[in-house]
Amino acid sequence: MVHRLPLRPFPVSGAPSPTFAPILRPASSLHLYPRRSFTSTIMAGFKQEPHKLLVIPGPIEVSDEVLYANAHPSVSHMSADFSSVFGDCIRMTREVLYTTTAQPFLISGSGTLGWDQVAANLVESGEHVLVLNSGYFGDSFAECLKVYGANVDEIRAPFGAAATLPDVEKAVLSKKYKIVAFTHVDTSTGVLSDAKGIAETVKRVSPETLVVMDSVCSVASEEIRMDDWRIDVVLTASQKGLGTPPGLSILAASEQAMKVFENRSTPPASYYASWKKWLPIMQSYEKGSAAYFATPPVNLIYAYHVSLTQITKQSPSLEERFKLHKEASQRVKGAAAELGLEQLPLDPAFAANGMTAIYLPPGVAASDLIPRLLKRDVVVAGGLHKDHKEKYFRIGHMGVTVVDKSRGDIDKIIAAMKDSVAEALASKKTA
Ligand SMILES: Cc1ncc(COP(=O)(O)O)c(C=O)c1O
Repeated sequence: MVHRLPLRPFPVSGAPSPTFAPILRPASSLHLYPRRSFTSTIMAGFKQEPHKLLVIPGPIEVSDEVLYANAHPSVSHMSADFSSVFGDCIRMTREVLYTTTAQPFLISGSGTLGWDQVAANLVESGEHVLVLNSGYFGDSFAECLKVYGANVDEIRAPFGAAATLPDVEKAVLSKKYKIVAFTHVDTSTGVLSDAKGIAETVKRVSPETLVVMDSVCSVASEEIRMDDWRIDVVLTASQKGLGTPPGLSILAASEQAMKVFENRSTPPASYYASWKKWLPIMQSYEKGSAAYFATPPVNLIYAYHVSLTQITKQSPSLEERFKLHKEASQRVKGAAAELGLEQLPLDPAFAANGMTAIYLPPGVAASDLIPRLLKRDVVVAGGLHKDHKEKYFRIGHMGVTVVDKSRGDIDKIIAAMKDSVAEALASKKTA
């Protein structure tokens, strides 16, 4: 099956790039790669090979179109064709984050590189940073900031919870922080932080403080309104809600963040992650001309372009996409509840929509459950939080798995979970 989605109108916001022509063919004749003259014949027959359903909380399943774009013939990173594709990716990244003014950085690397970019470009040695820690990824972000000399304080939320707004307010009132950083969805717990509330609290009390959000597990699966909510940095990666293979660090920095960067009194504390190096490159590509600092992941950018096109230009709309994630999440969480399984997030209102973290049934180890799902061709993940990892498992439901209902992925996940839990419990009884 070649999955084709109806198109919504172009063009991308911002300056239109010369070769990024609107694709307004009827859906039946749609192919997403106007640059590849042979595409219609090859793509029409392209379907990725059968494989187990990858529903860990990232990397996720990618569409045939995205995978095919990743197999783009080799192209120079200095070519006009690639420059226009890169420029489109910058503009469409802004669209996904509802920002018109933030500066995106698309750099070869993984989500972790986003932490290094923040620490190297926005913090100077000895400055104070507050990390709202809701799990494993809060620990790691704090560790990264310390490596670059930041003075890090943390609000460590109880397992299954996020920092409360009164706690955030109290902390920000007590000390001048350069940055308040938090994880939108901590992938180790499935806890969703109140991004809007946190940003509103910080900016009300301390407007100079930058609000930095690790959104590796939330972009394109949770609503993020970067400009309206006054988030200064959104950092993410290609392999989760953005539905592209791993390998791309994606970050957007607000005008306020860019001013803070420009006014540094010391040079950025990294060579590869330095925005002094990358900013001119991003600006040049956005204008449609290539520039070089370090080789971009050319094929991944083609793949990201197709995924962004599907997300921002086709049906479902971005708003509908968020609703579909909520709906799928409710189905998975509801099925777990029917099996008597509890979720990690203590407050269902603050549970992620792109993943579910579920306590294992009593007496059943992860090593007893996960292989049973695998036998049913469904790949889920074990626990990750260092203190509790033996107690739970995690399911990702993002991107094409959620948006393309014809795949039946959510039904498959639920059926495999039900059968595997029943089998694991039955094996305990007979043991
Ligand atoms: C919330 C969060 N932050 C950061 C990371 C690190 O990203 P990466 O593994 O792409 O370096 C991850 C990875 O899963 C994550 O889920």
